Amino acid sequence: MAKTHILAIDQGTTSTRSIVFDASAKRVASAQTEFAQHYPAPGWVEHDPEDIWRDVLATAREAIAESGVGAEAIAGIGITNQRETTLVWDRATGKPIHNAIVWQDRRTADTCARLKAEGAEGDVRARTGLLLDPYFSGTKLAWILDHVDGARARAEAGELAFGTVDSFLLWRLTGGTVHATDVTNASRTLLWNIREGCWDEQMCRLLDVPMALLPQVHDNAHVFGHTADGLFDAPIPIAGIAGDQQAALFGQACFARGMAKSTYGTGCFMLLNTGAEAIASENRLLTTPAYRLDGRTTYALEGSIFVAGAAIKWLRDGIGVITHASQTDDLATQVPDSHGVYMIPAFVGLGAPHWDPDARAAIFGLTLGATQAHLARAALEAVGYQTMDLVEAMVADGSARPATMRVDGGMAANDWLCGFLTDLLEVPVERPDDLETTARGAAFHAGLATGVWSGLDELERLWSREHCFEPKMTAEARAPLIAGWRDALRRTLA
Ligand code: G3P
Repeated sequence: MAKTHILAIDQGTTSTRSIVFDASAKRVASAQTEFAQHYPAPGWVEHDPEDIWRDVLATAREAIAESGVGAEAIAGIGITNQRETTLVWDRATGKPIHNAIVWQDRRTADTCARLKAEGAEGDVRARTGLLLDPYFSGTKLAWILDHVDGARARAEAGELAFGTVDSFLLWRLTGGTVHATDVTNASRTLLWNIREGCWDEQMCRLLDVPMALLPQVHDNAHVFGHTADGLFDAPIPIAGIAGDQQAALFGQACFARGMAKSTYGTGCFMLLNTGAEAIASENRLLTTPAYRLDGRTTYALEGSIFVAGAAIKWLRDGIGVITHASQTDDLATQVPDSHGVYMIPAFVGLGAPHWDPDARAAIFGLTLGATQAHLARAALEAVGYQTMDLVEAMVADGSARPATMRVDGGMAANDWLCGFLTDLLEVPVERPDDLETTARGAAFHAGLATGVWSGLDELERLWSREHCFEPKMTAEARAPLIAGWRDALRRTLA
């Protein structure tokens, strides 16, 4: 049977989805489910790895069934995932020895502060392109080894395996035969040397991580292994892996230097393609591999905002201000402005360009005239302002302002937000036909590895635009809004 379709598995922070794409990169079937978040202490966030595995398998099977083409027609699986989230499992049983510690988790803030105080950050940045922040996997991994009985000794004896979510899924999908990851996920651990393209012995020593735990690292488009017997009706190659934000850049066809995308999911992550050059940021942005194909790495500058959609979820689930996330679009347009209300969504600290793990969320400017609509609008506006801060940091780093900003992720469906973004960034905001760009990027990698698509030129032709938002706001109207945002930020960081 002709192998014409690709299954993309997108394992995100709050939900898991599987999508089947046909050879024209059209979505033919999809399945999605949300899963439980665990908050065992303030600032801690965990996932049960068995929940993740259960949902991956269930949604993958459902999407294949709904596609009507059967597992035999699937040329390959592309995996994309919430990055940095850290798992350690027993190589003999495949059982995790602790819950997954999620990227948002701040429990290792003290370790990072100590290493910073010891003056380690300059070297860390040069080797990994990252900063000393609990966001990344390395200190989370050391925490598990230090807090699970006997884990460190077992790690040193080679009995345990570490992985980000992609790696754990690959292990499970291949029946425990393949322990590997891709360069984008490896690069978020604080253990990967982005310039030399290898695990960094010195970083492993600094963070006290035995190298015996680490997976093999491959290109993004690569046949990592095959699904174990019995999982699907036919074995399927796992042919692509990429961290979700890098996958979104790829799915947005941002293949040329200077192209940028911003993805609005739980958080917001903006990546700017910098070509073969790994630019060291002077403005606390991250330097990260965007993709590696045939051994050649394309790099990106990344701005990571920890809370975007999560603030809307908090308005809904935390304080019941709204009942559906989609209400925010209507609410924002019901009022002419935010009535002076600003939300600084530092629920899990602040990421780029501030990197303050101890900052906490705040709402400023509340008066008796403030309503539900103003709060919703302030939450959406915060997403815009933070995106603007990232673009300004990139420009300050010497990058040209991107000609357009390609947006994707659930919140990009919000017209009001896209309009506000284009006004703040002062560049057109392009929204693609397919907002599931992350899954699409993973599918692209798997399709390249299996010959469904021939190369980047063909992938570029598969990208299409649904709408382009053009800036309309005057400089006079913009300036006081931005001044108010800066003031609220200053008060939060003080
Ligand atoms: O770095 C964290 C990021 O990969 C999470 O993405 O889409 O789950 O918010 P998302």
